[in-house]
Amino acid sequence: MDFKKIEAFVLKQYGIDLSAYKSKQLTRRIESFMSRIGVKNEDEFILKLKLDKNLSQRFLDHLTINVSEFFRNKDLFLELERKIKELLNPEKKTLKIWSAACSNGAEPYTLAIIMDRLTPNKRHTIIATDIDKNILEVAKKGVYKMQDVRNVDKDLLDKYFIKDGDSYIIKDFIKNRVIFKHHDLILDRYDTGFDLIVCRNVVIYFTQEVKNQIYKKFYDAMNPGALLFVGATESIYNYRELGFEKASTFIYRKPGGV
Ligand SMILES: C[S@@+](CC[C@H](N)C(=O)[O-])C[C@H]1O[C@@H](n2cnc3c(N)ncnc32)[C@H](O)[C@@H]1O
Repeated sequence: MDFKKIEAFVLKQYGIDLSAYKSKQLTRRIESFMSRIGVKNEDEFILKLKLDKNLSQRFLDHLTINVSEFFRNKDLFLELERKIKELLNPEKKTLKIWSAACSNGAEPYTLAIIMDRLTPNKRHTIIATDIDKNILEVAKKGVYKMQDVRNVDKDLLDKYFIKDGDSYIIKDFIKNRVIFKHHDLILDRYDTGFDLIVCRNVVIYFTQEVKNQIYKKFYDAMNPGALLFVGATESIYNYRELGFEKASTFIYRKPGGV
């Protein structure tokens, strides 16, 4: 397969820089997509993508893999909740939180629920970003299926969701606490002053070099004492080199006062 042709097209069309993604995994994903729709070569594929908006969207979804759910790896979120408590102690200003690569919103809404439980009377800033504009629209709607909320305790389901048929709709008072924005972790500039960055299940697709660049940019975007929460298979082996200390399994801290 002439990967370069597809790479150039994807960068121009969607602004996604595939050279930063692990190529073997990606080539396999693209090949399986091409064979599923029955195209013979890259030129035919690119032409089809240009002509068929629907197909183009399906391809983008296939590339970015939007899988997510509330309290993904629940134990780890409970551990995060304990660590956030420490951040809030002694009584501190409000926190600035970033859910980076937030997909359908389950992750930033989980954070909003946690913050509401910990400090019901405080308003924290929760920013949620993703490269995929379509999934951001889904996130803003805040409508989920049973499988998305399977880790949510019954009392939290009752408190934070409205059940409508087989849908679970996040209540407005939680929905309104999350600000969704389009952002590419590879190409865009990072905001600063974060007390907590949650970035899970996206860097697995990136090369080690790009991972390092992202973690360095997170470091610069964090306040001293801030936390970085990563995915359950994403231990940062070189965390010391990057300037972090370990706060817990899958949670790293930028050294310094809170
Ligand atoms: C598997 S989901 C992870 C969702 C959530 N963080 C979680 O762990 O449940 C990966 C998300 O990363 C997004 N993504 C892929 N490449 C990205 C990039 N370069 N910048 C920002 N988001 C990206 C995808 O659109 C997708 O929504």
